[in-house]
Amino acid sequence: MKIFAETEHLILREIVVADTGDMFELDSNPEVHEYLGKRPIFCMHKARVYVDYIRMQYDKYGIGRWAAIEKKSGAWIGWTGLKMNFEEEMNGHQNYYDIGYRFKPRYWGKGYATESSIAARDYFFENFPNQKLCGLAEVENKASCRVLEKIGLARKADFYYEAEDCMIAWFESYGVTP
Ligand SMILES: CC(C)(COP(=O)(O)OP(=O)(O)OC[C@H]1O[C@@H](n2cnc3c(N)ncnc32)[C@H](O)[C@@H]1OP(=O)(O)O)[C@@H](O)C(=O)NCCC(=O)NCCS
Repeated sequence: MKIFAETEHLILREIVVADTGDMFELDSNPEVHEYLGKRPIFCMHKARVYVDYIRMQYDKYGIGRWAAIEKKSGAWIGWTGLKMNFEEEMNGHQNYYDIGYRFKPRYWGKGYATESSIAARDYFFENFPNQKLCGLAEVENKASCRVLEKIGLARKADFYYEAEDCMIAWFESYGVTP
């Protein structure tokens, strides 16, 4: 199992099929989906589809979301990291590199999204020099917007997202000066 990065509190590793149960626990929780269109999943099959999609991204684009494992407990706490977004146009962008994160609620508020996203950001700029890294979050998702801001992405626009009837904040960067 490939480890992509290690931080003070987390191991960031490849997502594997054996993670499907944890993925289901994460994505079936309505609290987690509050700012994700309010569509938690209801079956393991859908969680497996998510895992397969991430693994396809590793093969096709050389990136993908990573499992975050809390070092002190060994717990699978959620996912973090990168994605090539080729599906839906957002804010005039198609085929863009996205940074994101999604954790089980009991692990919120510990700085893990920021810590893991710094590692993912650094991995991206090392491996994809001169490419743009984007991040987006519902404007009302203050924690997520704050994480994107803290890792050094610039908030470039707020736009209306008709599919979910909400305002989205768009962040981006071509590199971060330490
Ligand atoms: C968004 C999410 C990943 C944040 O994870 P986290 O590990 O708690 O984030 P961190 O602890 O690294 O940082 C959160 C920051 O937001 C701030 N914050 C949290 N809730 C906030 C709120 N309601 N208003 C303002 N700021 C808030 C925190 O204080 C912290 O900033 P600080 O370090 O300056 O104090 C987590 O809440 C989650 O998994 N949510 C569900 C999935 C999701 O919404 N993903 C993002 C989709 S765009």
